Amino acid sequence: MKVVTVIGARPQFIKAAAVSRVLRSEARVSEVLVHTGQHYDENMSTVFFDQLGIPAPERHLNIGSGTHGLQTGRMLEAVEQVLLQEQPDWLLVYGDTNSTLAGALAAAKLHVPVAHVEAGLRSFNRRMPEEINRVLTDHASDVLFAPTSVAVENLRREGIADERIVQVGDVMYDAALYFGNKAELESRVLETLDLRPGAYVLATVHRAENTDALERLHAIVDGLIAVAADMPVVLPLHPRTRGVLERAGMLERASQCMYLIPPVGYLDMIKLEKNACLIATDSGGVQKEAYFYGVPCVTFRDETEWVELVETGWNRLVAPVSAHKIRDAILSQRGTQGADLQLYGEGDAGRRITNALMEWK
Ligand code: UD1
Ligand code: UDP
Repeated sequence: MKVVTVIGARPQFIKAAAVSRVLRSEARVSEVLVHTGQHYDENMSTVFFDQLGIPAPERHLNIGSGTHGLQTGRMLEAVEQVLLQEQPDWLLVYGDTNSTLAGALAAAKLHVPVAHVEAGLRSFNRRMPEEINRVLTDHASDVLFAPTSVAVENLRREGIADERIVQVGDVMYDAALYFGNKAELESRVLETLDLRPGAYVLATVHRAENTDALERLHAIVDGLIAVAADMPVVLPLHPRTRGVLERAGMLERASQCMYLIPPVGYLDMIKLEKNACLIATDSGGVQKEAYFYGVPCVTFRDETEWVELVETGWNRLVAPVSAHKIRDAILSQRGTQGADLQLYGEGDAGRRITNALMEWK
């Protein structure tokens, strides 16, 4: 069985690491890893391949950044060429980025069966590029690997047949279990930054709806600066956000008040997450990792796809409309614990996905 896997953005390297390890352990499976080049900085791409033991991509498309149409269109054209040459049994994609949609669309048009990992997530906010990508990818897919029962229900409601849906748990939970101890042992990031365990807030911001709306970004940054008056705030900065802060003249004040650092590798990120007293983020993956490591979370968004985290008290949504709302949410969520439930499966999603692909009729 030949699988072409298309990845391109930071969270996809982590998700693919969890699945590729199992896929490649099977003698009858060959995988061709395709990197679209959506993320390309050393600390947004190479560091993950180095740390997570992901094999070097067999194909690198070097697409880079651009507007949605340009980036997705170039990927579509390039992935199509790979599929025509490789003639795989499956095209495997993850999540909801432009790389995901381009991979799925290229394959569906060539009648290559498409498998989508992290299927069925919905924010019900069509203004998010991710929502468009995930809805279209799900409907172009032949097998939909859903992480949760909520995701399964979302797919059913959209008329996707039960036979195509497999609930496998969350591949990021596999990754958290596999790399959690390694990070604890190997990362020296707390010493480097001179941080005390349990005595700082970890924050990330990169989502278009926050970076492209200056008033929202202002509320987030000013809210975090207000928190930093009480305790250190560490903000590994996505290049998109750094660019906006720089252009808006907000970077200097932010870096005077907080630990503004470049994006970190996965092991340092886990170490920072595990030892934070609270995580404040607009990332999908980071919301779940907070829960995996038992750390309370505040999410700077109007809604989330991972609704079970809010329902069980692990996560609290705060619309970034004012700095004091952000600060108050962080200070009141600090020190809380959610319900003790297994929300994302058993940590064997990679195995379940591999088995399902090998057995699919
Ligand atoms: C993308 C995904 C988003 C995901 C995120 C993970 C889409 C539409 N968005 O958002 O769903 O949560 O990845 O991190 O696919 N840049 C660099 N270096 C890089 C990569 C990006 O400088 O290595 C800068 C460029 O200025 C680029 C901007 O960041 O234009 C945005 O990058 P892009 O990949 O388009 O979107 P993300 O915000 O990273
Ligand atoms: N991450 C990382 N270094 C960072 C920020 C995030 O390794 O500086 C990891 C994080 O632990 C998670 C994934 O990247 O596993 C989340 O990616 P991101 O927030 O970029 O995207 P999203 O999950 O929102 O699509």
